[in-house]
Amino acid sequence: MIGKVSVIGSGHVGATAARGIANKELADVVLLDILDGVPQGKGLDMFEACPIEGSDARVLGTNDYADTTGSAVVVITAGLARKPGMSRDDLLQKNAGIIKAVTAEVVKYSPDSIIIPVTNPLDAMCQVVHRESGFPRERVVGMAGVLDSARMRSFIADALKVSVENTHAFVLGGHGDTMVPLPRYSTVAGIPITELLDQATIDAIVTRTAGGGAEIVKLLGTGSAFYAPGSAVVEMVEAILKDKKKILPCAVLLQGEYGIRDLFVGVPVKLGAGGAEQIIEIKLEAGEQAALDKSADAVRELVGVLGF
Ligand code: NAI
Ligand code: 2OP
Repeated sequence: MIGKVSVIGSGHVGATAARGIANKELADVVLLDILDGVPQGKGLDMFEACPIEGSDARVLGTNDYADTTGSAVVVITAGLARKPGMSRDDLLQKNAGIIKAVTAEVVKYSPDSIIIPVTNPLDAMCQVVHRESGFPRERVVGMAGVLDSARMRSFIADALKVSVENTHAFVLGGHGDTMVPLPRYSTVAGIPITELLDQATIDAIVTRTAGGGAEIVKLLGTGSAFYAPGSAVVEMVEAILKDKKKILPCAVLLQGEYGIRDLFVGVPVKLGAGGAEQIIEIKLEAGEQAALDKSADAVRELVGVLGF
């Protein structure tokens, strides 16, 4: 295989993403976790699935960062889930500590990599990765918007009884309940959904999209979504490794774009071999911009807790 992708954290999202990358034969995959035996076992299991999948990718599970050496892309899913009695700020601090330590190792062994943070709270964790890595902003590209817009696309396709392949959706802002689904830029076969659906249906889709993560958490009872998040990671990895220049909503460090500065927020970017090669600025109406500003404020508040 040409190229290596490392996935840090072999839990639900990490393992699902690793499997998708290997199955699609995008690269060799290294799956790393602090748990003894788990990444090794899952990695071996995935490797043994490759003959059936028709993939010559090699999958290695490990606890040793030396095995990640020279990765083209590193996906970070390592972290803790919120536990009873733990505040949102406690979780923020704990995951920030984990992400800081993980990033130091990633940079040591893969100094030229593109990092895709996934751990929550996503936008704040991107900020930690960016600061700790010292990487240019193009090489720290958070995964959230691809997932959120996939959720919106599913709901649109379901409402109109059309193929998901005909749908396109944009969700901007932070990955949380202040995210900003944009119906005007969400289309079916190029037609804005504002021309195809009534307002009540659109409102319902927007609300369900913003609460998409919570809906799955409630159903699962324990843990959060991982199939769609895993697929979202694979789409981003593929865009980078194949230099597709694909326009996807991702969390990137804004430097004045959309009137926001020094903050990771989800916006459309051109994703290729250089990472987030270009930030695409779409025209927002006043209400949309206000919603984006509010979402950015929520991210800024979290980042402030970290003392950034
Ligand atoms: P999980 O609990 O199944 O897996 C997390 C893994 O991280 C565990 O295997 C754990 O051992 C490992 N880990 C903890 N500390 C580590 C360290 N220092 N080094 C290496 N590995 C370490 O959790 P899951 O479901 O895989 O979710 C992972 C993260 O992704 C969570 O923070 C979750 O909230 C987030 N997430 C973000 C999404 C997004 O759209 N950005 C979507 C879905 C999940
Ligand atoms: C999600 O949106 C929990 O961030 C995760 O499913």
